Amino acid sequence: LKIEPYRPQDFIDFTKAANVELYQDALTKVRTELLGKHYPLIINGQERDTAEKLVSTNPCDTSERVGSTARATIQDAEDALNGAWDAFKTWKTWTMDARARVLLKAAAILKRKRLEVCALMTLEVGKNYAEADVEVAEAIDFLEYYAREAMKHEGFGAAETTWYAGEENGLMYLPLGVGVSISPWNFPCAIFAGMLAAPIVVGNCIIVKPAEDSGMIAGFVVDILREAGLPAGVVQFLPGVGEEVGDYLVRHARTRFITFTGSRNVGLHINEVAAKVVPGQRFIKRVIMELGGKDALIVDETADIENAVTAAIQGGFGFNGQKCSAMSRLVVVDSVYDEVVGKFVERVNALKVGTGEENANVTAVVNEESFEKIGKYLEIGKSEGKLLTGGAAPGENAGKKGYYVQPTVFGDVDAGARLAQEEIFGPVVSVLRARDWAHALEIANSTEYGLTGGVCSRDRARLEQARHEFEVGNLYFNRKITGAIVGVQPFGGYNMSGTDSKAGGPEYLGNFMQLKAVTERY
Ligand code: NAD
Ligand code: ALA
Repeated sequence: LKIEPYRPQDFIDFTKAANVELYQDALTKVRTELLGKHYPLIINGQERDTAEKLVSTNPCDTSERVGSTARATIQDAEDALNGAWDAFKTWKTWTMDARARVLLKAAAILKRKRLEVCALMTLEVGKNYAEADVEVAEAIDFLEYYAREAMKHEGFGAAETTWYAGEENGLMYLPLGVGVSISPWNFPCAIFAGMLAAPIVVGNCIIVKPAEDSGMIAGFVVDILREAGLPAGVVQFLPGVGEEVGDYLVRHARTRFITFTGSRNVGLHINEVAAKVVPGQRFIKRVIMELGGKDALIVDETADIENAVTAAIQGGFGFNGQKCSAMSRLVVVDSVYDEVVGKFVERVNALKVGTGEENANVTAVVNEESFEKIGKYLEIGKSEGKLLTGGAAPGENAGKKGYYVQPTVFGDVDAGARLAQEEIFGPVVSVLRARDWAHALEIANSTEYGLTGGVCSRDRARLEQARHEFEVGNLYFNRKITGAIVGVQPFGGYNMSGTDSKAGGPEYLGNFMQLKAVTERY
């Protein structure tokens, strides 16, 4: 490699007052310069506006309009797709190194704007300082990491083949063509950036359809890529409604691949639609899916209880439990159940609920639909478990109207209960009592999901057993089960949690390439 080796970004230390002050300055700057900003579509490098808009409001204070994006129409989607295939003719001829440089430049710009993006995330989706910072660090990491991975795939013979007498043989990595990236709102910067950086760096062109709730952050990232010198048409920015333009593009005969991160139901629907061949289609669409989770942390009787409780708090309530990786099930062995649950509830009660801007531990959930859905689970929980704390969704906090939900814990939830099987995506944790270690592992594996999981234990044999038998894509011992780092913990789930594509891992770029074996006999 011609550049320094990849190293993940350090996180900002917000225990230092000076860093808190810098964050608050960034919030002021974003309020002054970005509040009310409108992001149009970008098609073939040109801004294009639409009659209808998607409006972003601050989930922690719904009276605040943060800004808006255009709302793409079917015609816009059609134009974006055609334009991307035109751009592909040239972009695919760039070397891996040349394309990687665009990502490296974008990473450098993002580093300079790090706190600005963080502040925008605080306002658009309600992230507190650390959650926003960790996410922007991850976005930078994706750009840096995929750039270096792409450089390894440069040229004919980049992949190993066996020598054969009298011939020259080699494998070439080639891009697929034009795809669509459909992303969620909960990691609006990192997942959005990663899901476009990987396909384009290996020569594909892509239409990016961000989630309706986080279009501004997506627009901000796309502007950075343009500033970094990305040619027109390589990334077509198409904010819009999933069921409209998203669905249209998934069905389209000219969509070569779909990279999707979002909920199980939408993902399975897309998988089905993409599998159906339509007139004019010349390829089998490749589908890469990262979906939901119902992630469990097991605590056994040998565990360091204080450490386990910290892991449970961080995993359960980081970004209000709105992570696919969130610990929504705490599985505790009977002999330490009362101690663990007592300490856990005490720590939950100490969590501060408030706005992202004041850096509260638990902020408002993203939107009304989510708020209503979580509210229903709070009701279901009251009949399925023992309410240990929380349980209310006041919708208001310290005079601010927003989608506030109290951090909630239900105890003695049955493994088969809806509360223990369905993704709630909010600050709600179910605690399940296991007879012993074997029962705990059985409970942990008893959902259709398989994204993240963890074990807090000092028993080596149990950890080794979990290594093989805990059915998840990302397994953590004696720590929280969220916060995978690019290049360090490649991320992606099993079973209904996805296709285990392992974002931020050495195999990830392979999802967006096809190999050609070429033989010449001299
Ligand atoms: P969602 O499924 O509601 O939406 C995701 C995206 O799909 C959005 O851009 C939406 O507009 C689009 N969409 C909706 N209907 C569509 C359709 N019919 N056709 C095409 N596109 C459509 O998910 P969300 O609420 O944005 O995100 C939360 C979900 O994402 C949770 O389930 C969470 O677990 C999951 N998630 C998974 C990972 C992972 O890596 N496994 C990471 C983050 C989030
Ligand atoms: N990659 C994110 C995490 O690990 C979802 O928490």
